[in-house]
Amino acid sequence: MLKARVTIEKSFKTGEIDPKLYGSFVEHLGRCIYGGIYEPGHPSADEHGFRGDVASFIKELDTPIIRYPGGNFVSGYRWEDGIGPVNERPKRLDLAWRTLETNEVGVNEFSAWCKRVGSDPMLAINLGTRGIEAALDMLEYVNHSSGTYLSDLRIKHGYKEPHDVKVWCLGNELDGSWQTGHKTAHEYGRLALETGRAMKVIDPDLKLVTCGSSSTFMETFPQWEAETLMHTYDVADYISLHQYFSNADGDTPNFLARSLETDHFIKTVISTCDYVKAVKRSKKDMLLSFDEWNVWYHSSSGDADEMKNKPWQVAPSLIEDIYTFEDALVVGCMLITFLKHANRLKMACIAQLVNVIAPIMTETGGGVCKQTIFYPLLHASKYGRGTALMPVVSSPKYDSKDYTDVPYLETVAVTSEEHDELTIFAVNRNLDESIIMSLDIKGFEGYKVADHIVLECDDLKAVNTVANPGKVVPRSRDNTDEINGSEIEIKLEKASWNVIRLTGKPK
Ligand code: AHR
Repeated sequence: MLKARVTIEKSFKTGEIDPKLYGSFVEHLGRCIYGGIYEPGHPSADEHGFRGDVASFIKELDTPIIRYPGGNFVSGYRWEDGIGPVNERPKRLDLAWRTLETNEVGVNEFSAWCKRVGSDPMLAINLGTRGIEAALDMLEYVNHSSGTYLSDLRIKHGYKEPHDVKVWCLGNELDGSWQTGHKTAHEYGRLALETGRAMKVIDPDLKLVTCGSSSTFMETFPQWEAETLMHTYDVADYISLHQYFSNADGDTPNFLARSLETDHFIKTVISTCDYVKAVKRSKKDMLLSFDEWNVWYHSSSGDADEMKNKPWQVAPSLIEDIYTFEDALVVGCMLITFLKHANRLKMACIAQLVNVIAPIMTETGGGVCKQTIFYPLLHASKYGRGTALMPVVSSPKYDSKDYTDVPYLETVAVTSEEHDELTIFAVNRNLDESIIMSLDIKGFEGYKVADHIVLECDDLKAVNTVANPGKVVPRSRDNTDEINGSEIEIKLEKASWNVIRLTGKPK
C-alpha cells in the first residue's frame, strides 16, 4: 500500500472557479448535431426536433456554456445559410469534414435550444474564408434588439428577443494548414484585431477569444501566441488552448501522466501572455479558454485522407470514440489540472458534447448512454464550484516513457463557503496499488466526510454502450469518518477517480 500526505488549508486559495470551466462544444460535424442533439422524429424529440433524452443528460451535466458551430467547420461557414424558413435553406459542401451540410439547424435554433438546456451559447465567427463584414452582420442579427435590417430580419424569422450572446471566438485554429483559410500569425493577428475592434463598437461588453495554437505540437507554438497577441492583446479577453490525448501505443502509465503536459501548456501560455502584457505596458491579464480538450484516438474516421475516398454525405458517423475507463482517469486528471489554474483559466469546453469525441453517445432512432468520461465531468461540474485551494502534496512518484517524477496522486480541493462544503478531487494513477491519503485539513473545524464517490474498474479498457451502459459507473463508498483533530486517512483504490465531499453542516 502506498502512502501520500496532503495538506489543505483554507487560505491556500488559487482562485475563484468560473463555472464556464465546465463548458462544452457542439460542431456541425458527423452526428454531433444531426442524430445527436437534433433528431426530428425521434421518440424523445420536442416540438423543435431536439432530442429530449440527450437534453436531459446535458442538463444533468449543468453545462454553463456551449461553443458553436465549430471547430474546423466554422472556417468555411456562411451563417446566413442557417436562418429563415428551413425548407429554403441551401445545402452546401462542408470542406472541413468533406460532408454535406443541410443547414436545418442554425444560430436561432441553436441559441433557443441552449436556453432550454440551461446553457449560454458561445459563438465562433468565420475568419477562414470570411472576415469583418460577415462577423458584424452575424453579431447584429444575433444580438441587436431591433430597428435595423438584420435585427428586424431575426424578428421576422420568429425570434423577437435578441439572443444576447456574450462570448465570441475570433475564428478557429487558423495556425493549422488543414484549416480552410489557414493564415500566418501576422495575417491572423491583423484580421482578428480589426474584426474584434469593430465587434466591440457594436457591443463593448462582448468577451472575445483570440485563437491560440491548435496544439503544443505545432512548430509555431508558442511563437504564434506571442505574435498574434501583439495585435489582439487589447481587444481580446481570452486566448484559446486546444489539446487532445491518445493512448495509441497502449502505454497506460504514460497516458495517465499526460495531464502534466496540460499543466505545462497552461503555464507556457500564461508566460507568453504576460510577456506581451509587459511589452505593451498593459494593465490587463489575458484569461485562458481551453475551448477544446479531451482524449481522442479510438476512431480515426474523419481524417482528411479517409474522407477523400468517400462520397459527400449528410451527417455520417465521424470520430465517434468509445471511451474506456482509463480515458475517464485522464479526463479527471485534466479537470484537476484546470482547477489548479482557476485564477487564469476561466473557460474550458470538452470537445465535443454528443457522439463526436463526446461524453454522450446516441443511436440514431434509438437510445443514449453516458460514456465513461461523462462521470468526472459531471462530478467536477456539480461539486467543483466555489474557490480552488492548492493542496501541498507529498506523493510517491514514477517515471514513464515521456515523463519523470509523475506523482501517483493527482489532487486538488474546492471549497464552497456558500454551501459549507470542501470537496477533494483525487486520481490514483497507480495501476496495482491503492494509496492511503493522509489528509491534514486546516481551517475546516467540525467538517465531516459526507460522501466519497469513486469511479473504479478492474478492466482499464471497459466501456459503456447503449446496450450496456452500466459497466463503468460511480458508486458511493461507505465512508463517514470524522476528522480526528485536523487529520483523516482516506483509501484511494488503485486506478481510481475519487470525489471526497466534506461538509460543515450538521446532519
Ligand atoms: O473537435 C474536433 C476538431 O478538432 C475541431 O473541429 C478542430 O477545431 C480541432 O482540430
